[in-house]
Amino acid sequence: MTRTPNPVLDAVLTRRSAPRMTDPAPDPGDLERLVQAAATAPDHGRLRPWRLVAVTGDERARLGDALAEAADSPELARRASAKPLRAPLLLTIVHRPVPDHPKVPEWEQLAATTGMVTTLSLLLHSHGFASIWRTGAAVQAPQVHKYLGVDDDEQLLGWLYVGTRCAPDATDRRPLDTPARITWHTTGI
Ligand SMILES: Cc1cc2nc3c(=O)[nH]c(=O)nc-3n(C[C@H](O)[C@H](O)[C@H](O)COP(=O)(O)O)c2cc1C
Repeated sequence: MTRTPNPVLDAVLTRRSAPRMTDPAPDPGDLERLVQAAATAPDHGRLRPWRLVAVTGDERARLGDALAEAADSPELARRASAKPLRAPLLLTIVHRPVPDHPKVPEWEQLAATTGMVTTLSLLLHSHGFASIWRTGAAVQAPQVHKYLGVDDDEQLLGWLYVGTRCAPDATDRRPLDTPARITWHTTGI
């Protein structure tokens, strides 16, 4: 394999989740292009079993209200209401599997959705934007589903928070330990 600099490898190795972000986030046109590219991630049957709900501006506070309604205590509600303000753009990840597909079971469709989100986070990073995928108990909350319009046959997988990193990039590198996870079954050696 070539050891020359490679922008894809570089993007994969340097992407890190960002806990807090500020403006700018991608504008609607740029986001559309990046999502179109991310949608080319492997997807058995090309079902595209997902949709995104983009939440920006003051709507983040309304989402915060829904998160607060779903919280178990006043203190948790106070914290929940501020959560969407940690980035200028929240991409709500809605998984919408095709039920009883003759060839593509639902776990494969979930794999396609998560592959798209991971690809999107890499594309955002390669264009200078930061992101973090966040979940939590709120993904099950009826109040949150109602605000976002998540239907009963859909699954809320959380939010990709998107924006520009506030603090400098984390410099610690994760250990590249995956070779230890490869077991080879080979013949002819
Ligand atoms: C499905 C999924 C859900 C996640 N949910 C959360 C979350 O609720 N809160 C959080 O801080 N990070 C969440 N993360 C981000 C991970 O914590 C993060 O990717 C991990 O710590 C590795 O850090 P890195 O992305 O900087 O390599 C989630 C990631 C995935 C893939």
